[in-house]
Amino acid sequence: MGIHKTKIAPSLLAADFGNLQHDVELVNQSVADWHHIDIMDGVFVPNISYGMPVVKAIAEYATKPLDVHLMIVDPDRYIKTFADLGASVLTVHYEACTHLHRTLQEIKAAGMQAGVALNPHTNINVLEDTINDIDLVLIMSVNPGFGGQSFIERSYAKIRDLKALIQDRRAHTLIEVDGGVSTENAKALTEAGVDVLVAGSFVFKSEDPGSTIRELKEIAG
Ligand code: DX5
Ligand code: ZN
Repeated sequence: MGIHKTKIAPSLLAADFGNLQHDVELVNQSVADWHHIDIMDGVFVPNISYGMPVVKAIAEYATKPLDVHLMIVDPDRYIKTFADLGASVLTVHYEACTHLHRTLQEIKAAGMQAGVALNPHTNINVLEDTINDIDLVLIMSVNPGFGGQSFIERSYAKIRDLKALIQDRRAHTLIEVDGGVSTENAKALTEAGVDVLVAGSFVFKSEDPGSTIRELKEIAG
């Protein structure tokens, strides 16, 4: 086993929605660290996932921190709602925030860790003026909206650049990567600087999701 420092956050987007309690409990019983919850509004991304009543149901069964990824326009409207639902990490998209600095302060004031997600087309240099206010940066390694897409190779360079920025500013920001993550790229991603791996279809479409989570954790180190 050894000591693993990389966190694994299985994305429930790829779970069986007819048996959500089963899949949440599977994550509870695994070596996963967080439950990754994807909220899509059909406006910021061309897909709609699930909303508050489903998050409430997940929260009732989940025993690990809820890592909520908002792919919605004007996320400020729902900061308090997600705090009340029990989110530990609330991540908003850089591209959806006109006043990102204010949004970050509001997320933290509501008692959550503040995350910022970057689409594949967004350079990490847009975070130069806020990096010390950000608890987590989520690098999208696919275009957000759907599970099961292939990993964009350029993401490694972004992760390395982001790691350099975090070290340069002596920030404590975690780096999370989301999209197309598997045992094929887990090691290279942590070597590039990733702290949290999100994996959806690779985990839930596998024969034995519990052992797939364990494999990811062991390979990532
Ligand atoms: C995509 C979501 C991801 C998604 C990842 O917009 O943010 O969390 O579930 O799915 P996979 O791991 O299948 O690429
Ligand atoms: Zn996500």
